[in-house]
Formats: sequence, C-alpha cells, structure tokens
Amino acid sequence: MKQVIWISSVALCAAGVMTAQLKPKDPTQSPASQPAPKTATDQTYPAEQIQAGEVRFSSDCGFCHGRDGAGGETGPDLTRSALVAGDTRGDKIGPVIRAGRKEKGMPSFNLSNADLEAIVAFIHNQKIKFESVAGGRRAVDPGDLATGNAEAGRAYFNGAGGCSGCHSPTGDLASIATRYHGLELLQRMLYPRGRKPAPAPPKVTVTLRSGKTLVAPLAGESEFTIVVLDPSGKQHTYQKTDVQYKVDDPMSAHFAQLAKYTDADMHNVFAYVDTFK
Ligand code: HEC
Ligand code: HEC
Repeated sequence: MKQVIWISSVALCAAGVMTAQLKPKDPTQSPASQPAPKTATDQTYPAEQIQAGEVRFSSDCGFCHGRDGAGGETGPDLTRSALVAGDTRGDKIGPVIRAGRKEKGMPSFNLSNADLEAIVAFIHNQKIKFESVAGGRRAVDPGDLATGNAEAGRAYFNGAGGCSGCHSPTGDLASIATRYHGLELLQRMLYPRGRKPAPAPPKVTVTLRSGKTLVAPLAGESEFTIVVLDPSGKQHTYQKTDVQYKVDDPMSAHFAQLAKYTDADMHNVFAYVDTFK
C-alpha cells in the first residue's frame, strides 16, 4: 500500500528549487545560444505515428528531456542535437535508446520496433516544429525581427494569443525588453526555458477514490498511469482509472502557442513585447 503524502506548497517549492539546483543545466545547452543543426536527410512520418510517439516519449523520456524533447532537468535538448540532425529513420537515435549511455545518465530502453520508430518520428517532428518557429531558419536576422507591428501585436497579446491571461506589460514582463534584446528576447518569448532557477515542474492534483486530494510535481505520464514526486524525490505511480487528476502546466501554453503562431503574429507580438522597456 502506498502512503498518501500531503504536500504543502512550501514543500512543493522546495522540491522544485532543489531539482533545479542539484542538476544545473549545461550552459552550452542554452536555447538562444546557437541555431540548431539542420536535419541532414529530410524525412516525413504519418501523423498517427508521431502521436503514438508523443505518448511514449512523454512517459519514457519526458522527465529528463522535457515532454516536448527540448531539454529537461538532466537530458539535453534533442531538437538541437547533432546526433538527431544526422539521424535517418532511427539509424543513430535507435542505438542510443537501446544501449543507453549509462555512465552519462541516459538509461537503456528495451522497446518494441514500433515504439522505437514512433519515438523517432516524434523527435524528428519536434525538431521541425522548433526549427520553423524558433530556430535558425528565420528570425535570426535582426532586420527580420523589426518587421512586426506593435499595435497589431498588442491586439494579439490581449486577444487571440491569450498572453494577457498570464502576463502583464507593467507586471511580470515589465522591462523585459531591457533585459533581453533581439533574438534572445524572441527566444524567451517563444520558449522561456533555461532560466535559473528553472520554472517548477508542472503540478498535478490527484483525487483518490477515498476522496483525498494531493498536489505534487508531475514526474511523468503515460496512457494509463500518472507519476508524481513526493518531497523526497521518490516517484509514486497511480493508475489513471483509479484516480481523478488535473495537470497544471503553465509552460504548456507556450509550447501549444508555437504551433499556433503565424509568422506575422509572431513578429507583431515580438514588436509589442520589444516596447516593454
Ligand atoms: C534519466 C534521464 C533520461 C531518460 C529517462 C532518457 N534520457 Fe536520453 N539522455 C539523457 C542524458 C543525460 C543524455 C546525454 C548523454 C551524454 O551526455 O552523452 C541523453 C542523451 C540522449 C540522446 C543523444 C543526444 C545526443 O545529442 O547525443 C538521445 C537521442 C536520447 N537521449 C533520447 C532519449 C529517448 C528517446 C528517451 C526515452 C526513450 C530518453 N532519451 C530517455 C538522459 C535521459
Ligand atoms: C498559461 C499561462 C501563460 C500564457 C497564456 C502565456 N505565457 Fe508566457 N510565460 C508563462 C510562464 C509560466 C513563463 C515562465 C516564467 C518563468 O520563467 O518564470 C512565461 C514566460 C514568458 C516570457 C519570458 C519572461 C521572462 O521573464 O523571461 C515571455 C516574454 C512570455 N512568456 C511571453 C508570452 C506571450 C507573448 C504570450 C502569448 C502569445 C504568452 N507568454 C502566453 C506562462 C504563460
């Protein structure tokens, strides 16, 4: 029988800060530092395979590499990995997953071919997604960044973009354009990761059959289970059929937004945010 642990918000905070401090990110992994290496061989994958890969990735890999593959507490950003860029249909990624690099903290996985292929499809798809909006191909040119319309950006910020639900130009984002400039500001706006201390992991509220509720950091999620961390860092797994749960991940808004931005919206919002001086 698993003991139910009630976690106060103070403990939650401490747990979040602790992981961030125990496992500092490699500064060379800073997303804004370099454009991602380009994929050597273009490859496309069916949407269902990518989706299956997303589920698998989220449960097996997400805790370390981030559920979106763009880097987590211990695992590197796979969308910027040279190995991933050089991979064709799993020929380089596959062996790393199967053998692991245990001395470096990458475990080995015994996956079926179908699961492995789906994960590979998901990783390549994430790479394309990140490249096309946040990465090297466009938006690197400072001149290109200056093409937006701040007024239109303000409308998007307060309207369709939903940014004002979490941010305010005179509150948390005040003077952000003084702290960050150009591409670096764009990177923060699109994908604010790598800040220290890193934002706390998503929280999940789990309600057990008994009616008891606990709030804890989410460690992972699969189709059937939800994994939470207790304050000592131990993982507890719950079957989704046994509990009710709700994940609260403010950062997921940014990730979802990457897929929604049109080129014009993005430049307009950037022009607006660039006025927060
Ligand atoms: C416990 C944390 C952890 C888990 C879980 C994990 N990884 Fe990793 N992974 C790492 C670390 C750390 C490295 C970097 C190893 C190194 O420095 O060589 C890594 C490296 C990699 C690399 C090589 C990247 C490169 O540029 O060399 C790939 C690909 C990869 N992981 C994919 C996966 C996939 C897919 C899964 C899930 C099936 C997964 N990892 C699960 C921690 C993890
Ligand atoms: C559901 C809440 C939510 C929404 C909606 C949202 N964000 Fe964020 N945003 C966050 C969180 C959480 C962070 C990370 C804050 C941190 O690092 O402490 C963040 C960070 C940022 C940062 C970097 C702040 C810094 O100090 O480095 C910028 C810029 C930003 N968001 C802009 C936007 C824009 C533009 C939109 C709309 C397109 C948007 N956000 C929508 C939650 C949200």
